[in-house]
Amino acid sequence: MSRFVAKSIDQYHTLYKESVENPEKFWAAFAEQEFVWHKKWENTLSFDLRKPTIQWFAGGKLNITENCIDRHLTTRGNQTAILFEPNDPKDKPLHISYQELSKQVNKTANMLKALGAQKGDRICIYMPMTPELAYTVLACARIGAIHSVVFAGFSAQSLSDRINDAQCSLLVTADGGYRGQKITPLKAIVDQALISCLSIRRVLVLQRTGLKVSMKSGRDVWWHEVFAKASDACVAESMDAEDSLFILYTSGSTGKPKGMVHTCGGYMVYTNYSFRNVFQYQEGDIYWCTADIGWITGHSYILYGPLSAGATTVMFEGIPSYPDMGRFWRIIEKHKVNIFYTAPTAIRSLASGDLSWVHSHDLGSLKTLGTVGEPINLEAWQWYNEHIGQGQCPIVDTWWQTETGGIMISNLAGVSKDIPTFATLPLPGIQPCLMDEAGNEIATLEAEGRLCIQFPWPSMARTIYGNHQRFADTYYRAFEGKYFTGDGAKRDKNGNYRITGRVDDVVIVSGHNLGTAEIENAINEHPLIAESAVVGYPHPIKGHAIYAFVTLRSPKHEDASVGIKIEINSLVTSLIGPIAKPEKIQFTAGLPKTRSGKIMRRILRKIAEGNTESLGDISTLLNPDCVEQIIQGASI
Ligand code: WT7
Repeated sequence: MSRFVAKSIDQYHTLYKESVENPEKFWAAFAEQEFVWHKKWENTLSFDLRKPTIQWFAGGKLNITENCIDRHLTTRGNQTAILFEPNDPKDKPLHISYQELSKQVNKTANMLKALGAQKGDRICIYMPMTPELAYTVLACARIGAIHSVVFAGFSAQSLSDRINDAQCSLLVTADGGYRGQKITPLKAIVDQALISCLSIRRVLVLQRTGLKVSMKSGRDVWWHEVFAKASDACVAESMDAEDSLFILYTSGSTGKPKGMVHTCGGYMVYTNYSFRNVFQYQEGDIYWCTADIGWITGHSYILYGPLSAGATTVMFEGIPSYPDMGRFWRIIEKHKVNIFYTAPTAIRSLASGDLSWVHSHDLGSLKTLGTVGEPINLEAWQWYNEHIGQGQCPIVDTWWQTETGGIMISNLAGVSKDIPTFATLPLPGIQPCLMDEAGNEIATLEAEGRLCIQFPWPSMARTIYGNHQRFADTYYRAFEGKYFTGDGAKRDKNGNYRITGRVDDVVIVSGHNLGTAEIENAINEHPLIAESAVVGYPHPIKGHAIYAFVTLRSPKHEDASVGIKIEINSLVTSLIGPIAKPEKIQFTAGLPKTRSGKIMRRILRKIAEGNTESLGDISTLLNPDCVEQIIQGASI
């Protein structure tokens, strides 16, 4: 048992102290003891957060897949690495052992090489949640190619934006993807996306649904044809700890999504560290994270963290409501899941259904529950605790971000106390602080402010792909020398953190980050629309939902408003994806603006929340009259 995994609250405090007093020594000792390196690093850490530059373990050589696969072969080659539960409950689950995973990943790696992939190339992955998605991600890492997974619910436009931004040369996809009763026509979406992508040379297509697709000769190849010829031996590429491992896009408050870059060494070290500490994974446990690999949660806590720890990780292809609302609970019963990690939005939606869906299943195998993605409300927390955990399971409330690579603030299962709606304490190595509006650190323990992290940790993003200036501006300019998270938080007198939500123009809808500017840009593409303002408002199941205030170019178009609403929805769906569709659309004659012409989203947010008593002083607006009109027309 590693001394770096806290087994008691006292050990947590000791480790925390050690990690803060001498971070380099702490992480060097952990990294050296727990992983296979080809060559030891020269410098554990060098950084300047004002620029920012960050390097962990630079000069160290490794391959993350040797740590996730090869090193387990002698000790647990026959143990299940990935337990695949297919969309259709009548289909057989697959128990993919570490031995089998090794072969499959090597074959996939050789297949990518046969298609011309090399170290440093960017490979876009647009796939359903099948084992081949996991093989492809790991195969990229094996040959040193940089994977860029795009969630298979995104539109053709979003896909092509991401391919072009990273200049990917290869795209891996499937004919279609199962989602409950539906099939998403992935290859058809790819064909549309690639009309505007010149960098893609080859497209590899997995046959999953049998959906008929068109194959462009010279460009498109079937997975099974190339795979059959590939060898199952592949030497892992030796990577520098600071070489890029992957790019993953996340929405920002302005402009296009940001391609967050994570590197090989630090990311490996911290995802392993946080996985073991937070979930307290024990040999033999069955661990299930319900996220999609298209998001950071899937990268860090379906694949890299659990596999590097030698765990059995469940991968579920389907959705919680298919064939019925009992699906999650049936999977837990069937596979005797011990650790279950999901999002508040899933909890709320399942809690809104009949309790008999839960009670008709034996959930006795569960030891630990987890939540991630947005603040969990008390009601959802209590339902999760009472009905799923049966009052017996600690709930880890894990706060982190695409940018942080791994869990930053969370209780440790059974080690530190859970407090409903609090993420609680920072993990060892993580140094949060709260900042006031004036940019000063708040010294008192009990406080509320903007959440920053004041010292580097190994899995922090190193840059935005192709735009380091934007990286510096977004995360390191608001508070000098500190990483700004974009979240607000409260701290209690014992140092526990409670995340209050985003303080920027990012709205989290059903656990998905959406930039309001991106949605406004999509709506403004409509020829009859003059301008729009998008805000989030609280929603009982989704956490937040999108409210769009829209002004038309001419009042005479108002008659067509029903049709325009439908067109707005289809524009947003095709430019971003169905998850970004506004729940409410209100046509207004004007939008409240400052004298310099800036839209006052703060006022609109209050109106959308139904909180019109506290609008504050609106007399200084350019057009205060429009506010009353908007209130009258609001649908709340
Ligand atoms: C944003 C990051 C990182 C995993 C999935 C989301 C919110 C995340 C929590 C939590 C309160 C949370 C924050 C954060 N968030 N976890 N446990 N409690 N808020 O990753 O898409 O990059 O979103 O999700 O607002 O900034 P992401």
